[in-house]
Amino acid sequence: MATGHEKVETNIGLMMTLILIVAAIGGLVQIVPLFFMQSTTEPVEGLKPYSALELAGRDVYVREGCYLCHSQMIRPFRAETERYGHYSVAGEFVYDRPFQWGSKRTGPDLHRVGGRYSDDWHYVHLMNPRDVVPESVMPNYPFLADAELDGVQVQKNMRALKDWFNHPYTDDEITKAPDAVAGKTEMDAIIAYLQNLGTAIKTVR
Ligand code: HEC
Repeated sequence: MATGHEKVETNIGLMMTLILIVAAIGGLVQIVPLFFMQSTTEPVEGLKPYSALELAGRDVYVREGCYLCHSQMIRPFRAETERYGHYSVAGEFVYDRPFQWGSKRTGPDLHRVGGRYSDDWHYVHLMNPRDVVPESVMPNYPFLADAELDGVQVQKNMRALKDWFNHPYTDDEITKAPDAVAGKTEMDAIIAYLQNLGTAIKTVR
């Protein structure tokens, strides 16, 4: 008579089912505690939700697919921290929905790019990257400078983030959102977003 072990080894369907169950337990043991750990669910000290202008800029970043060439995730290795600054920690991303960690670095990591260059540098760079970095393969984004922001849309986004995900916006901030982005372009917004990136943690470079 076949032993239990033989049954599993001679029945590929049963074996696959059991492997899946065992692998799922391993995964759950690693993942589930993260939902309850403070360091992964609480914002780091000093982290603020994106302002109206930064939030609009973040939407441009997502729409233009900047994440396809840029990560926002500095790994805790010497080569990375020497180049980019403090490694990324989970508590810095609690107001990122969805997060922009990315997985491909055609260009440099952008998580700590905030404050590294002037607004003017970013403007010139986004208009035509080769004006400041001759060997750059990054595309030009001149059209961002001509596109006005839709303040009502920004306001709706802020309200949704507050109502559904408890981002701590005040009613006043939401009411004033259209004024805050009035007359601003997508270029202004994405620069504001870039300048804020990774600035919640004081980093020594
Ligand atoms: C095709 C890949 C590609 C895409 C798409 C891309 N970039 Fe880049 N980016 C690069 C490369 C390569 C560099 C390095 C050379 C340079 O500075 O231009 C770079 C550099 C940068 C830098 C300077 C970083 C530093 O630390 O020096 C910023 C800021 C930046 N990109 C922002 C953006 C934004 C914002 C978008 C989307 C609107 C974007 N990039 C889209 C490839 C890309």
